[in-house]
Amino acid sequence: MPTGSKIRRLLGKIPFAKSLKERLKRYRENRRIAQLGGAKEVFTHHYQQNEWGDEESISGPGSTLEYTANLREKLPELCERLGVRTLLDAPCGDFNWFGEIAWRGELSYIGGDIVTALVQRNTQRHSTPRRTFRELDIIGDPLPAADLWMLRDCLIHLSHADIFAVVANFLRSDIKYLLTTSHHASDGNFDIATGSFHPVRLQIAPYNFGEPLEEITDWIEGFPPRSMALWDRQTLAKRMANHKQVQYELTKLSAGTR
Ligand SMILES: C[S@@+](CC[C@H](N)C(=O)[O-])C[C@H]1O[C@@H](n2cnc3c(N)ncnc32)[C@H](O)[C@@H]1O
Repeated sequence: MPTGSKIRRLLGKIPFAKSLKERLKRYRENRRIAQLGGAKEVFTHHYQQNEWGDEESISGPGSTLEYTANLREKLPELCERLGVRTLLDAPCGDFNWFGEIAWRGELSYIGGDIVTALVQRNTQRHSTPRRTFRELDIIGDPLPAADLWMLRDCLIHLSHADIFAVVANFLRSDIKYLLTTSHHASDGNFDIATGSFHPVRLQIAPYNFGEPLEEITDWIEGFPPRSMALWDRQTLAKRMANHKQVQYELTKLSAGTR
């Protein structure tokens, strides 16, 4: 008679049972997160509990100096080439790595995050006349004018509906470029409760951004391959013209019902 652990091992070899186990895990995680409240409560909880469990950065293992070495090296050249004078970094998280970038010229920096305590901490520790931090919900708050919006490591924690709202928010903004995280491999994007995690690939359904202008590699060994991918607002607006959910979110944003 097979024991419980033998049965579990045998089931683990059957693809359908494996995916069922994965779905059950996701369902439990989504339920746990949804019970924490709305986006502000969820991410404030993550901040207070150090949910992403990294010792160096409260924003998680993707925000360490080691992880961000390539991005820190490539960002100044990209910004210089695109003529970026004002950069919106939202979410800015705990600003663990951005301050270590060797910029070539003067850059005005606006950091935004949904977690009040994080913004206060960043303001105390890192603000300068050209570097300010503010409370900002990228899902619904009007975005400040900037040349480039760096939206790193955040859509991976948002539900499909919230991602569509973020895209709509970008489309109604005055920002020319969006530089954001997109994973390389995907068997298909799946939905989550905001606050959980999914390896978003923006080029494919249900987002359908299409190919980016360019990409900066943004991962290290031991983590899933991904990039910071660049789109310009005009091209994205054309590609989203028939995207039902993004158009719906745009209507809600302009009616103030989001
Ligand atoms: C994984 S951290 C990434 C931080 C930073 N971009 C980086 O690369 O180090 C995710 C951040 O997103 C913030 N966040 C989540 N939802 C947000 C929203 N709707 N508006 C603004 N910030 C949000 C969280 O508070 C958290 O600081």
